[in-house]
Amino acid sequence: MCRNLVESDQNHTITIRTSGPEQTQSAGRVLGLHASAGSVFLLTGDLGAGKTCLTQGILWGLGGDEYARSPTFVLICEYYARLTLYHMDLYRLDSIDEIIDLGLDDYFLGDGVCVVEWADKGVDAFVGEHVNVVIEDTGNNNRKLTLSADSPRYSEMLGALNQEFSNPESASQSQPAKSEA
Ligand SMILES: Nc1ncnc2c1ncn2[C@@H]1O[C@H](COP(=O)(O)OP(=O)(O)OP(=O)(O)O)[C@@H](O)[C@H]1O
Ligand SMILES: [Mg+2]
Repeated sequence: MCRNLVESDQNHTITIRTSGPEQTQSAGRVLGLHASAGSVFLLTGDLGAGKTCLTQGILWGLGGDEYARSPTFVLICEYYARLTLYHMDLYRLDSIDEIIDLGLDDYFLGDGVCVVEWADKGVDAFVGEHVNVVIEDTGNNNRKLTLSADSPRYSEMLGALNQEFSNPESASQSQPAKSEA
């Protein structure tokens, strides 16, 4: 059982703390459940912070039942669920020009859901409204997730996450959300 600490403010920013990968997946599942066409999640955090773990939960929240792997070697993985999930990883890209040349706008402005790992490498390449997620390893399988949205369109989603993580019992679920889709 975790002690979930939730902080929030009026500027669409919340902070949650997870204890173990299942809780980070649960946080992702809330994001996936509330995602809509064009939702974009820009993930930042060190190696092993939990970016793919969160993405896994997002996919389950979208109703997918696959296991999302880190797409480090293929740049983009597609998963078909309630909405198509485009899972991107910029780790191996070296320059902002390289990222801009990829022409990712079609994905960001499309009807799917985009999740970008190592998004801090390409921050100038992203257009449109998005949620920034910063994941920090705070030791002992604990992670601090700071989510900030630049648009009210994500208010309901962040509010739901806030509420879920105020309720430790519901936040402890992590199984695929197929039956909930
Ligand atoms: N609270 C937690 N949340 C997420 N992952 C956790 C947590 N505690 C421990 N872990 C472990 O940390 C690792 C996170 O791996 P993950 O692949 O998600 O990281 P990543 O940020 O995607 O790394 P990379 O930059 O290499 O792609 C997993 O081995 C997971 O089991
Ligand atoms: Mg990863």
